[in-house]
Amino acid sequence: MRLDVLTLFPDMFPGYLGQSVLSRAIQRGLVDVRLHNIRDWSDDKHNTVDDRPFGGGPGMILKVEPVVKAVEAVQKTGAEPGRLVMLTPQGRRLNQSVVEELSGCKRIVFLCGRYEGFDERIRTILEPDEISIGDFVLNGGEVAAMVVIDAVIRLVPDVLGDEDSSGADSFSGPDRRLEFAQYTRPREYRGLEVPGVLLSGNHEEIARWREENSEARTRARRPDLLG
Ligand code: ADE
Repeated sequence: MRLDVLTLFPDMFPGYLGQSVLSRAIQRGLVDVRLHNIRDWSDDKHNTVDDRPFGGGPGMILKVEPVVKAVEAVQKTGAEPGRLVMLTPQGRRLNQSVVEELSGCKRIVFLCGRYEGFDERIRTILEPDEISIGDFVLNGGEVAAMVVIDAVIRLVPDVLGDEDSSGADSFSGPDRRLEFAQYTRPREYRGLEVPGVLLSGNHEEIARWREENSEARTRARRPDLLG
């Protein structure tokens, strides 16, 4: 899977990209991430990418020319333009179904905003898939892009080993419930014992316990998921 990120702050990414699951996926050639600075497509001498809003008001707005030029140039590199995802609090809300949908893309181009927002014509011209990671406002789309990337690459074939496969994750599977409670050694800690059935070796009973536990947890914590 190829991922391109357009941002004014490419330096926010290498620390995250260099760690854990994503770093291994990149090293193994399963995911190819390219960072692009939108400022490189500004054509005035001060490298301006933002300006004050027409009509007045606080903050700065990302300008249409450098952003459209940057996206179009990046989309032209590579075999296909890919899915253009714009990170904005006004987008459709991210959830595991959206993540599954994105994980089927061969290429995703992420457009991260800063300041008070994008010139509206960026939306009209590029028609991006606008995604929000929740009903709160971040200082920019970069952290949101990392959230989407993190969730999507878990579902790219071979990125996770069998050992930590994503199949039992919360929100996954046909009924989209929360995952059951998990335990590891020791069997007892401060008087708290691991449920005996998990030590029984009886796979059918373990599966039944997990199914019930998952349902009870979902009912207690997220009844909205049970419909
Ligand atoms: N940019 C600023 N806030 C955001 C949010 N909640 N989701 C995605 N991108 C954003």
